[in-house]
Amino acid sequence: MRIVGGVQRQLLGGSGTVRSCAPSSTAGPPAREPALSRRMFPALRESHEVYLDSASTTQKPESVIAAITDYHSARTANAGRGAYAWSTSLAREIEGVRERMAGFIGAHTDEVVFTGGSTAGLHAIALSWGLANLGEGDEILYSPRDHASNVYPWVQLRQLLAGFGRTITLVPYRVNALGEADVEDIAAKVSPRTRMITVGHLHHVFGSLSTLEELRGRIDPSIALCFDCSQSGGHLPVRVEDLDADFAVFAGHKMFGAPGTGVLYCRRRRHGELSPFLPGGNSGVTLDDSGLHAGPMPQRMEGGTPNIPGILALGAALDVLDNIGLDTIHTHNRALTQRLLAGLRPVPGLEFLPGPAYAPCETGYGIVSFTLAGISANDLGFVLGELGFLVRSGAHCVPANNAPGEEVSVRVSTHIYNTLDEIDRFTHSVATIAEEVSS
Ligand code: ALA
Repeated sequence: MRIVGGVQRQLLGGSGTVRSCAPSSTAGPPAREPALSRRMFPALRESHEVYLDSASTTQKPESVIAAITDYHSARTANAGRGAYAWSTSLAREIEGVRERMAGFIGAHTDEVVFTGGSTAGLHAIALSWGLANLGEGDEILYSPRDHASNVYPWVQLRQLLAGFGRTITLVPYRVNALGEADVEDIAAKVSPRTRMITVGHLHHVFGSLSTLEELRGRIDPSIALCFDCSQSGGHLPVRVEDLDADFAVFAGHKMFGAPGTGVLYCRRRRHGELSPFLPGGNSGVTLDDSGLHAGPMPQRMEGGTPNIPGILALGAALDVLDNIGLDTIHTHNRALTQRLLAGLRPVPGLEFLPGPAYAPCETGYGIVSFTLAGISANDLGFVLGELGFLVRSGAHCVPANNAPGEEVSVRVSTHIYNTLDEIDRFTHSVATIAEEVSS
């Protein structure tokens, strides 16, 4: 195992707890022949490039594209606004997708809110729950190394509350060498004023899983747990009950669906703490002389015309995910990750960011980030792109990375449509580039 001392020190501040190994939630069946899955994705059929950027957005299966096109080309209507069949059947279909999504994550239907995406979902929690429930001196624990969408909503909430004369504190916690939320650091920082702990379930750069399960029984169970499942949704089985989540967000476009579609899970025990988020049409609110009154969930967190084609596409995406099988996807991504690590490990000058490269067992969820001596991450991303390998490079929307000298890296992210051969060709190209830049 190769630990990069500098990176470790920078992240851990000299200490930090590494869990023995993230449990593999599945011993799933052998990976389906990816070529079969690949044929379901038209953009891949028609290209020679190797798409290794699924953490940015996944490819779209034919049936998802058809769901969007069909809505616009036949029976276009608003959902549930008219008594005519085009409208009523759309409303039923949307509620059908809500039921499907609830089943997909192990939730009740009234806990599933449709949003514009994960960022929108996390802001909804901040504005609906945070504004109404956080008081002077309350604290939120968060990771500055998470995606901006799981940092900025809480910073904005703090600013908004300050405008009302209420001061809340955002308490940062560390990640360990594997890139997981450091549960011992969290446990040490939990105080009687902690109201929420928010965490990226599968980290979008480190590719590590944080479940917070080691905190069970050690912290006040009334503390809200919020999981950003943008990268785990559609990549491995996610059950909100297993996470003990109060809130969780999912990005439709990272689970084969369309951009502009997401899901916010709000656990029933929190419903009484939620104020209407988008009062308007279909938001369930009532108005009388004293003002607005909250209606039932999940409409209380919705409002206005929903993203009808996006939600229908999400339903089609869930069908595809179910057909392929999340265990199969998880197993395949783990195999690709291991192959990637094996191919990159011997490359001179290559340093892995925290993640599965440092795990004591063969783990991996399809995300690996690294740097290469002698070439900047952005230049490397560009060169790889020119060679036909489509990866993300840069600071990856981590606010802490905006400072000069912070972690800018190349990120590889895989899915069911990637093959071991693609990974081999990719690692061979990185090795060739390493040779060239070092000569
Ligand atoms: N959130 C997306 C990513 O991690 C865009 O790349």
